[in-house]
Amino acid sequence: MKKLSILGSTGSVGTQALDVVRAFPEKFEVVALAAGRNVDLLVEQIREFRPRYVSIASEEDASVLKDRISTRKVEVLTGEEGLISLAALDDVDTVLCAVVGRYGLRPALEAVRAGKRLALANKESLVMAGEIIMREAGKNDALILPVDSEHNAVFQVLEGRPLTNISRIVITASGGPFLNMDLKELDNITVKDALQHPVWSMGEKITIDSATMMNKCFEIIEAHWLFQLDPSRIGVVVHPQSVVHAIVDLMDGSSVAVMFLPDMRIPILYALSYPERYPFRMVRKLNLEELGTLEFLPVDSKKYPAINLAYSVLEEGGTAPAVMAVANDVAVAAFLQGKIKFTSIVKVVFQTLLEYKNTEVFDIQDVLDAAEWAEITAKSIIRAMGS
Ligand SMILES: NC(=O)c1ccc[n+]([C@@H]2O[C@H](COP(=O)([O-])OP(=O)(O)OC[C@H]3O[C@@H](n4cnc5c(N)ncnc54)[C@H](OP(=O)(O)O)[C@@H]3O)[C@@H](O)[C@H]2O)c1
Repeated sequence: MKKLSILGSTGSVGTQALDVVRAFPEKFEVVALAAGRNVDLLVEQIREFRPRYVSIASEEDASVLKDRISTRKVEVLTGEEGLISLAALDDVDTVLCAVVGRYGLRPALEAVRAGKRLALANKESLVMAGEIIMREAGKNDALILPVDSEHNAVFQVLEGRPLTNISRIVITASGGPFLNMDLKELDNITVKDALQHPVWSMGEKITIDSATMMNKCFEIIEAHWLFQLDPSRIGVVVHPQSVVHAIVDLMDGSSVAVMFLPDMRIPILYALSYPERYPFRMVRKLNLEELGTLEFLPVDSKKYPAINLAYSVLEEGGTAPAVMAVANDVAVAAFLQGKIKFTSIVKVVFQTLLEYKNTEVFDIQDVLDAAEWAEITAKSIIRAMGS
């Protein structure tokens, strides 16, 4: 029985992870759940899964929560410290980090420091501090299991193969809702348009990141750290059907692709069940005859300038990737609040990076300092855009 701490249990990945738990009650036990602000859903989850610990972002929500679950034996924690504590509980062996954006960094780091298995959905943590997280995972024998479908697919292929057998990996991108839209039209995109992902149903931030391709930029960096591959050996191809998640090109000319229907519960289950595989009756299985044509197209980097940022910030190194991730967090939030245009999201990220004097990363504090600077700077760039 795996003992789980699910951070971000009220989100898209978190609720799908709980579907997986529902499907295999004899395999998984929920020990801890953490949410941001959705008290109602957390209360329902506490009633159903009976965790011993929960965490919620604010003290105010915590007191509402305590009133509503007063008859239950649950320890209620709060804020970032609550998330961090739930990542390192003694009675947990697997932590699913499915918190969104920069809030995933410290819990992900804490989980590997505590030697837990880390099922990692929060890619921003690896973008911000990949070197530190991988180093700490190595030191503490913590296994990182990627939840992102592309990385989960690569992980499935690489298992047991020496890296020297691999010539490169290619991760796929759906292209988001604006794949066939003219570059000039992108300026007029509304929040509602940008939240209409053609294939995946996900949280708001990653849906916007998919539309700008910042998500793929993050995933290149995530792949670099997870698989220790030089960025020149990581490619991206647009694949609107999102059935092939990654292709691994081997040295001898063979390529191995991993396919499954776009349902996050499949990679979530594998990240939780690894190295075992369980018969998953809840999900639809792939039927190629039904699917028909699969398309693969090059990425238009004029339309999606974010994609090249991955390679340039990786080359720059230091705290630049963290600055990029936080500037994007801030810009996406501003777009969702109607403060900036869709096309300004990536502009804010570029401008923040332009104003940044890169620094080296010695420890996590360097990353946190850079993140704080990026938040202040991106907000001031956004204010200036509005004036
Ligand atoms: N969705 C996908 O299909 C998918 C696929 C691959 C990777 N990912 C990655 O997985 C992560 C989560 O994505 P998602 O789509 O599941 O996001 P989401 O639906 O927005 O959920 C985010 C979760 O984080 C919680 N949260 C937000 N701020 C918090 C805070 N300050 N403290 C504690 N918890 C906080 C939210 O709580 P409340 O809702 O209670 O406020 C929610 O449970 C992201 O890094 C994303 O890139 C997602």
